[in-house]
Amino acid sequence: MSTTSRTLDTQELEQRVKDMYREVAEEPEKEFHFETGRALAERLGYPSDELDAIPGPSIDSFAGVGYYFDLAAIQPGESVIDLGSGSGTDSFLAAGHVGDEGHVIGIDMTDAQSAKATRLAREYGVENVDFRHGYIEQTPVETGSADVVISNGVINLSPEKTKVFAEAARVLRRGGRLAIADIVTSVQLPVGITCDASLWAACIGGAMQRDDYREAIEDAGFEIENIRENDQYRFVSERADSATRKYGVKSVSLLTVKP
Ligand SMILES: C[S@@+](CC[C@H](N)C(=O)[O-])C[C@H]1O[C@@H](n2cnc3c(N)ncnc32)[C@H](O)[C@@H]1O
Repeated sequence: MSTTSRTLDTQELEQRVKDMYREVAEEPEKEFHFETGRALAERLGYPSDELDAIPGPSIDSFAGVGYYFDLAAIQPGESVIDLGSGSGTDSFLAAGHVGDEGHVIGIDMTDAQSAKATRLAREYGVENVDFRHGYIEQTPVETGSADVVISNGVINLSPEKTKVFAEAARVLRRGGRLAIADIVTSVQLPVGITCDASLWAACIGGAMQRDDYREAIEDAGFEIENIRENDQYRFVSERADSATRKYGVKSVSLLTVKP
């Protein structure tokens, strides 16, 4: 199954995504098609005491789409990989869960995001997290090295989702979990939307039809244990909101296991 539109210019798309998330890292107060920041995180279900315990500027640039940490149930001592870690909110939270014996690696292709997260880890003395520049389709991580792979609002942005799920399966040990929040749709999006780089970068244009998304995860060898809709997530621009209503664009959180 191809997850890439034939007419999508993937190079332009990558640049648009990088440009948008550089702004999210450097100017988080700006208006985007989507919400950012602490108010969003709290509405999605992030506990405020846990947010208080991580670097505040990472939360300013939070651009996730759902809460899934209850599903992930990250334990002390575990190794976690965060695909598309942005300015680091989820990686820092995961670092608190794994504690001194555990470790978190955040991966992001946008330099400004990984640079901000790295600077914050240093400034706030978070030693069990390491941010790497890289692509989630070719993850710079050892095979079988992770207990948990997490990701928030990122996989929809990849034109090669089957590669991303295959990579998640590769880096996980047997019995490891993939716990994510992402955007899916009720119906297949028309080419006018999938080829709109701006809607793609806003987490809409690249969203996969939900049954196809499930199938892509299962084809990578995962068993889906839990999937739920995040009704608290909404897009903010009128254009994004209208596409959302028309095509049933939804945020979901899910937990899968690599048997
Ligand atoms: C919507 S933001 C979410 C960031 C973070 N997970 C959060 O919750 O704040 C998406 C992030 O994924 C990154 N990203 C998108 N596609 C990527 C890819 N193919 N490889 C690596 N990073 C990617 C972007 O640079 C951006 O930082």
